Parts: sequence; structure tokens; C-alpha cells
Amino acid sequence: MKKIGIIGLGKFLPKKVLTNADLEKMVDTSDEWITTRTGIKKRRLVAKGEATSDLAVKAAEEALKDAKLKPLDIDLIIVATITPDMPFPATACFVQEKLGAKNAVSFDISAACAGFLYALTIAQQFIARGNYRNALVIGAEVLSSVTDWQDRNTCVLFGDGAGAAVLSEVKSGGILSTYLGTDGSKTGLLFIPGGGSRNPVSRESMSHRMHYIKMQGNELFKLAVTIMASAAQTALKAANLECKDIDLVIPHQANMRIIMAMAKKLGLPKEKIYLNIDRYGNMSSASTVTALCEAVKEGRIQKGDIVLLDAFGAGLVWGACVIKW
Ligand code: ACO
Repeated sequence: MKKIGIIGLGKFLPKKVLTNADLEKMVDTSDEWITTRTGIKKRRLVAKGEATSDLAVKAAEEALKDAKLKPLDIDLIIVATITPDMPFPATACFVQEKLGAKNAVSFDISAACAGFLYALTIAQQFIARGNYRNALVIGAEVLSSVTDWQDRNTCVLFGDGAGAAVLSEVKSGGILSTYLGTDGSKTGLLFIPGGGSRNPVSRESMSHRMHYIKMQGNELFKLAVTIMASAAQTALKAANLECKDIDLVIPHQANMRIIMAMAKKLGLPKEKIYLNIDRYGNMSSASTVTALCEAVKEGRIQKGDIVLLDAFGAGLVWGACVIKW
């Protein structure tokens, strides 16, 4: 069995910073409420005209440099996103063109906050079967484009950004296990009702603000804690490992309290959890990969370490992956 691993990582966060103090001027909220309920202090937002593929390309260029590969070495690009540049063509096609990665089969997948883990799993299968050699797996979002800036329940949570990983065959370590799950009975907990074939854009859909994120936060919170903890256990079991073997967890960054409750369920100390939610908020498919990139660059992950990626999002969808670094 081939060993497949991550050989390069990159990220890109747009320049503009929106702080909790800025949000206090926009909706009825406070820095104290946002910090204690979510752990978020600020988030990044794109400039006017900046789209998901623009962020994705910058993250991908950094990942390619880190992997010491050229765009033409890449034969597969998967972009995980719920905020594509356009309904079609796929954002991955724009990325392929801007990168000059002419040899890469390129497509998008939509799996919300678990998108990076879904894309990673797909790329791993292709490389293991020998279909492709080097894959670029990107999580990229411009969530500010679907955020209702009049809704305090959601607008404090989200941010824009992108992360990218290069996957190839490796000599040692690599992905030890992956686990994905879906529960389509709970689509109504987190969704954007307008703009698709169910409710195409119309004057009515616009006036009902149907093109923005709708969320039942409370219900999601409870499910996220239980599902992320059990996904972690399933992926660890598949890798013949236990919680005590983990050196670092890279969780999806939706809410600090969700992450800490999950860690408590798994019996993991705070020191083994990587957090960047305070700086960026929830960037959906970009969260996990960006956090992984930062953890590696900060030296929090060393060769031989066992790393657990764990994510949960709209769908519901979830995924966990154990990697030996
Ligand atoms: N500022 C001040 N008050 C607020 C704000 C705000 N920004 N937002 C909500 N409130 C109020 C509510 O109106 C409510 O007031 P009420 O009691 O008078 O009705 C009160 O605060 C409590 O609201 P809750 O929703 O019960 O607060 P909770 O502690 O659950 O926190 C939160 C809300 C942060 C949204 C939390 O439920 C959460 O993080 N949920 C999970 C989100 C998530 O995981 N999303 C999935 C991933 S995202 C993806 O896939 C794209």
C-alpha cells in the first residue's frame, strides 16, 4: 500500500481586519458576548472584487513553493468551497488557469466546513490508485459574500481565507486513516435558501434575504461536540491508535466552546489543541487547512508526530483524519 502524505502547505488571509469593536457599530452585540460565547476577536475580509479563486491561488502558490514543485507538476486540483466564484464553472478551473497548472484535472467539492477533509480523502484515493501523482487540495472561502451583516446571530462568526496542501506519495509517515460521515436529515440547521434551483434569484428572494446564511446555532452546537468527538475516535481506531497517542489536534474552528467541549470528551488537554479562531473566526473549508499550515510553520508539529484533523459542518457533514507527520 502506498503511503500518501502532505508535502507542502500554504495559506492566504486577505488584508482587511474586522474586529469585534467594528461589529459593535454594525449590530446589537458586544466584544464581551462574542469573545465569551465564541472565542473570536477578529476576522479577515476580502477587498471589493476579490473572489475565492484569488485567495485559493495565493495559498496554492505558497504550498507549491513549500513542496518544491512547479504548477506543471500538479495533475489534480480539488477546491473545497461553499462560496465559489460563480455557480459554474468550478472555482478549481479558475485556479488551474491562474496557476498555469495545465496538466491538472480540476474540480470543486461542496462539503461546507468538512470540505477540506472530503477533498483530502478524494485526492488520497486517486494518488493511492496511481491515477495522479501530485494533488493540490485547497479549502477557500469568501463567506463575507453570503453573510447577513444585519443578523447578529451569524455575522459575528464568519471570515474569509484560504489554505492549500500538496499531497504526494511519501517514504515515511503520511495519512494513516480517514473517516467521513453525512446526515442529510439536518440540512435545515445551516443553509442558504436562495440562489439555487429551489429558490432562484428573484425580487422576492432578495427581499426575504434568502441569499444569506441561516443557522440554528444552539442545535448545531450540541451536535458538533458529539459528532466531532465520535469522528475522532473512529479515525483513531482505524489507525490502531488511541487519544493518548495524539500530539496535536487541528479542529475545525467554529466555536472555541465546541472545540473545548470536544477535547474534554476525548480527555485531551488544551495544549494538544491548535486554535486560530480568535484571529480568523470560522472560515468553513479553509479553517482546518489554514490551522494545519500555521501549526506546522510555528513548529507545533514535528516529524513523527501524530496529528488529528477533525471537522463538522452544514449538511450535516463531518470528517476526521489521522496523519503521521
Ligand atoms: N451578540 C449579542 N447577543 C447575541 C448575539 C450576538 N452576536 N447572537 C445571539 N445573541 C443572543 C441571542 O439572541 C439570544 O438572546 P435571547 O436569549 O434573548 O433569545 C442569546 O444571545 C443566546 O443565544 P444562543 O443562540 O442560545 O447562544 P449560544 O450560546 O448558543 O451561542 C452560537 C450562539 C455562538 C451561534 C453557538 O450556538 C454556536 O457557535 N453554534 C454552532 C455554530 C456552528 O458550529 N456552525 C457550524 C459550522 S459552520 C459551517 O458549516 C459553514
